[in-house]
Amino acid sequence: MPITTTKLMDMKRNQQKIASLTAYDASFAALFDKAGIDMLLVGDSLGMVLQGHDSTIPVTIENIAYHTQAVARGNGNALLVADMPFMSTPTLEQTLQNAATLMRAGAQMVKIEGGAWLCETIQALVRRAVPVCVHMGLTPQSVNVFGGYKVQGRSEADMAEMLNQAKAVEQAGAQLLVAECIPAQLGKALSQALTIPVIGIGAGVDTDGQILVMHDLLGITQGQLPKFAKNFLAQSNSIPEAVTRYITDVRRGLFPSEQHTFS
Ligand code: KIV
Ligand code: NA
Repeated sequence: MPITTTKLMDMKRNQQKIASLTAYDASFAALFDKAGIDMLLVGDSLGMVLQGHDSTIPVTIENIAYHTQAVARGNGNALLVADMPFMSTPTLEQTLQNAATLMRAGAQMVKIEGGAWLCETIQALVRRAVPVCVHMGLTPQSVNVFGGYKVQGRSEADMAEMLNQAKAVEQAGAQLLVAECIPAQLGKALSQALTIPVIGIGAGVDTDGQILVMHDLLGITQGQLPKFAKNFLAQSNSIPEAVTRYITDVRRGLFPSEQHTFS
């Protein structure tokens, strides 16, 4: 049965954890899908892990569309989400055109980095039949504004602000939230405050689900592995086994553990 946004909402309500991974090609998409992954993201992380850039900023809509087509061919049932890359939402008209490019490539939802200021954009997309996921917390496209890859939402004020912004984007029609690199306490608060599922990456164990960059799961990321990432291949005999372990650990609430969590 294909995983839909309705199914993800049901999973949240029934306290079943959502397990998701990034994917960029047909072979891995098929492997992850067969292992039972709930959601696949064609992330603009491809700028780093596939293209070798040191940020996601050079990634284009054509890059995401190309990889989305490949992932769509390999995928079976997982919900396929594609990233709207840096500067792909400069005007409402261009946003709609870029989202259409990704939907035609096979995406079933688009993900946009930002907050409450996206409400108009979210409404416009949803009204034109494009489901939206909002990415909050450490939004890598803003690395130059943040002055580095840093944990977000650490102060009481920042936490309250992110909660308000998350409620606003849900109200505007977003159907999924990705929260990256925030204290576990805030990940939990977001999941409790929202009806839509909150998928965490470096957001603690209490979110409605987890996402990981596939290269981090396989331990083939170059340079320093982020604190929240875990090499599941290290304790497995094959890639399918590592993927199954990841999914099982997410479902049982065993990943992320304390060592992969910000407090
Ligand atoms: O691009 C990406 O891989 C992402 C995930 C880390 C959520 O946005
Ligand atoms: Na991304």
